[in-house]
Amino acid sequence: MTFPIAPGAWLGLLGGGQLGRMFCMAAQSLGFKVCVLDPGDDSPAGAVADDHLRADYLDQAALAELARRCRAVTTEFENVPAAALAFLAQHCSVSPHAASVAIAQDRIEEKRFLATAGIGVAPHAVIRLVTDFDRLDGRLLPGILKSARLGYDGKGQARVADLAEARAAWQTMGAVPCVLEQRLDLALELSVVVARARDGTATTFPIAENVHRGGILAVSVVPARIDEALARRARDAALAVAVAMDYVGVLCVEFFVLADGRLLANEIAPRPHNSGHYTIDACVSSQFDEQARVLAGQPLGDTGLLAPAVMLNILGDVWFDGERLREPDWPAVLAVPGAKLHLYGKRDARRGRKMGHVTCIAASRDEALARAARVAGALGIAPPA
Ligand SMILES: Nc1ncnc2c1ncn2[C@@H]1O[C@H](COP(=O)(O)OP(=O)(O)O)[C@@H](O)[C@H]1O
Ligand SMILES: [Mg+2]
Repeated sequence: MTFPIAPGAWLGLLGGGQLGRMFCMAAQSLGFKVCVLDPGDDSPAGAVADDHLRADYLDQAALAELARRCRAVTTEFENVPAAALAFLAQHCSVSPHAASVAIAQDRIEEKRFLATAGIGVAPHAVIRLVTDFDRLDGRLLPGILKSARLGYDGKGQARVADLAEARAAWQTMGAVPCVLEQRLDLALELSVVVARARDGTATTFPIAENVHRGGILAVSVVPARIDEALARRARDAALAVAVAMDYVGVLCVEFFVLADGRLLANEIAPRPHNSGHYTIDACVSSQFDEQARVLAGQPLGDTGLLAPAVMLNILGDVWFDGERLREPDWPAVLAVPGAKLHLYGKRDARRGRKMGHVTCIAASRDEALARAARVAGALGIAPPA
């Protein structure tokens, strides 16, 4: 495989969601063509890709076509079948590696990997069998039971107060492998997006301070309101994760900061991340630019911050007025100075569904927060904290 791949060539993408859509836009802006493989017919990425192979991820003909056309393929979500990545890897460059994706697909593997890399994680127990509850450390309760696989945006999780609730929740989840995590008193949540090239050069984006509501990211504030020592610890830990995986591409590490200052890694996303969407408007190169650059074997871009930014997620809830559907007040959003609106082109608004985001940039973080509060008011959502 020879790199770099010159603009004009095809890049391949598995997955059709909003992360893929923003990847397409960045890659196209660099002059590449993007071929998306995704089964959906209402596909945010498929709608903007140069070509959309509408097929199952394991469809042999579609995979062969993707491999024929693209010298390099990436993914936009972590639950792509390992067999699809393995097939493609025989014919073209696939990044991230299947092994990196496999770690992030499974919370048990992920926690084991992080601990081995010397990075603290939340106290937890692995639950595979009903008998695992018999020797559960009582200090893990109250806790959060999380399915090892296929959870996202707070799905596949249950908050449990005691052992009886934990057992019941595990049965409700179908008795699948889980981790039971101690429920922590979080002072802050942070995330670090890393871009790492095939030659091992790596860079990080400015750290985001994140607020989740109902298990779903609601707000990212950048720069995070933390001191430089904590910022360095988070950056170093995220880079250590990327190095330990020999990661190629863009990844995100989510962190918890506890009241006593301890920094724990929560989870790894082997792809650009919702908390990095602010980079489109607030950084020289965005996380999606970096994903395209790494994929094509081009040099990494400048991840420097152009302006403080506050990102608000727009969930389907803002389309609902009780049971009635209505159009959100876009003119009021777009009238806010420094507000950049990104909608993902999803047909149906559903509660909890990520429909878009707004990034507010300003000369200062306080001003960006004030602008985001105006956007939140226009959308009828809670203001950023
Ligand atoms: N052990 C915990 N203690 C306190 N809050 C937690 C814990 N685990 C998760 N949360 C909260 O729930 C959010 C989503 O959990 P996470 O494990 O990141 O799942 P997802 O894959 O859905 O993003 C976190 O960002 C955090 O706000
Ligand atoms: Mg998360």
